[in-house]
Amino acid sequence: MERAEKSSEGKSLFEKVWTLALHRGFVIPTAEIYGGIAGIYDFGPLGTLLVKRLIDLWRRFFIIEETNFPVYEVSGATILPYEVLVASGHVDSFVDPLVACLKCKAKMRADHLVEEKLGVRVEGATVDELNRMIRENGLRCPNCGGELSEVTLFNLMFKTEIGPLGGKAAFLRPETAQVIFIDFKKAFQAMRGKLPFGLAQVGKAYRNEISPRQGLIRLREFTQMEIEVFINPKEVNNHPGIEGVADSKFRILTREGQLKGEEAVEVTVKESVEKGVVPNAYMAYYLSKETEFFERIGIPRDKFYFRHMMPEETPFYSGGNFDLEVELSIGVKEVVGNAYRTDHDLRSHMRHSGEDLSVDVDGEKVVPEVVEPSFGVERIVYCILEYCYREDDGRGWSWFQFPPEIAPVTALILPLMKKEPLVSKAKEMFRAARKSGVFVEYDDRGSIGKRYARADEIGVPVCVTIDYQTIDDGTVTLRNRDTRNQVRVKAELVPRILLDLSEGRLSLNALEALKG
Ligand code: ATP
Ligand code: GLY
Repeated sequence: MERAEKSSEGKSLFEKVWTLALHRGFVIPTAEIYGGIAGIYDFGPLGTLLVKRLIDLWRRFFIIEETNFPVYEVSGATILPYEVLVASGHVDSFVDPLVACLKCKAKMRADHLVEEKLGVRVEGATVDELNRMIRENGLRCPNCGGELSEVTLFNLMFKTEIGPLGGKAAFLRPETAQVIFIDFKKAFQAMRGKLPFGLAQVGKAYRNEISPRQGLIRLREFTQMEIEVFINPKEVNNHPGIEGVADSKFRILTREGQLKGEEAVEVTVKESVEKGVVPNAYMAYYLSKETEFFERIGIPRDKFYFRHMMPEETPFYSGGNFDLEVELSIGVKEVVGNAYRTDHDLRSHMRHSGEDLSVDVDGEKVVPEVVEPSFGVERIVYCILEYCYREDDGRGWSWFQFPPEIAPVTALILPLMKKEPLVSKAKEMFRAARKSGVFVEYDDRGSIGKRYARADEIGVPVCVTIDYQTIDDGTVTLRNRDTRNQVRVKAELVPRILLDLSEGRLSLNALEALKG
């Protein structure tokens, strides 16, 4: 089943998917009844289920099934004292270039304005360079044509105070990572750690973006899933699980390739380390694991790649960044940042706090280096919505082809008619499936065709129908969302089938083979 590249009704694919996401309550603009607020959204019931399932799968894939070295999760505070963000470098360096219209007062990212108007990539350009490009090309306000101000640097952190009446200066955290660095030593000791040692965190981050836009892509409050792997600096090329993924492939756009205008190329983990395409084996390991993960959540492998960021756009804390970029209908977007943070953060917190954050390795004091994959939940959710969206393919409605492992609702349980004993049997099945840990829904309203349509519209992989034959021989029909074929199976097998589907042990393609 092909993804809809363009959409009918003259709407762009983004508009179509975003409208549906709002219409079906995946996403609700925060404080919508008061006019909403730019860059801040709530997830409605289906969006919350989708986010939860995405996070659960991520946790299973990157934490529970990571058996090469321990990775533990922490849950840190979202308000951090001023000192932490001074030490991390965010107070001085977490800035974006801002330009304002002198007439209508609109404020915008100067680099984005230049990129959009001149079609050149300018991430990392200095304020002087941006001012020069704006002046030389006569750029004006895109909203009203007014004259533009000089470019200034704007710090993206939300500032606040802890305590009343001029309390202690603090910030809402701009990334979840800092909590991990400041808690590292305690967590390492508490878990009797040895290197390599991973700490992960799923939680909110806040950035006062200058121009939030494109729905879930640029938000002011969003969710990160981050892992910091602490490594002995002498062992960065000695990943304990590298052999197991040596032949796995990922697509990479090298710095050289970008300068020559080339496309991403496929490399194996082994080649990437041997040829120095990536800075170390840990980075290669994560790029291959992320490739597997993104395919699993429905993003085709030829639609994303890892871009080695050019030196001028690499974050201040990083010894090399590899962004997972996805080709979307609104352009290519970064959805995961993979950074080789070296020992930058730990050393900086040591200097500023006076605490020794080194660990003991065979009697030697070692300050670990860090490799960090940083996933943005909301951007990934948008990628899933866009790549799983299907135009009406003759069934009379558009639908979502979510992989069963992340589908918000795994199955709809339906009595053929709202009559006894069908209703009681269907409710019994609904309760049994819920009890086995699968999120299913029960629906007895409207014609069976309408109920199938409602299920497809929200991407439910399977409809389980209880009919009169169920009463005779104890079988039910399972309707495969993708093929619309139906198969009869024994009712008592259904909770197990649904659990296997929802946990990725059974594919929707294999459903028809279960007959009998
Ligand atoms: P961009 O260049 O697009 O602003 P970034 O390079 O600042 O992104 P990172 O600092 O690497 O992003 O953050 C790690 C991840 O967090 C990103 O890959 C993205 O998925 C997510 N993220 C960052 N900023 C936002 C935002 N404003 N809204 C939604 N997600 C975000
Ligand atoms: N922790 C990486 C980032 O948010 O930029």
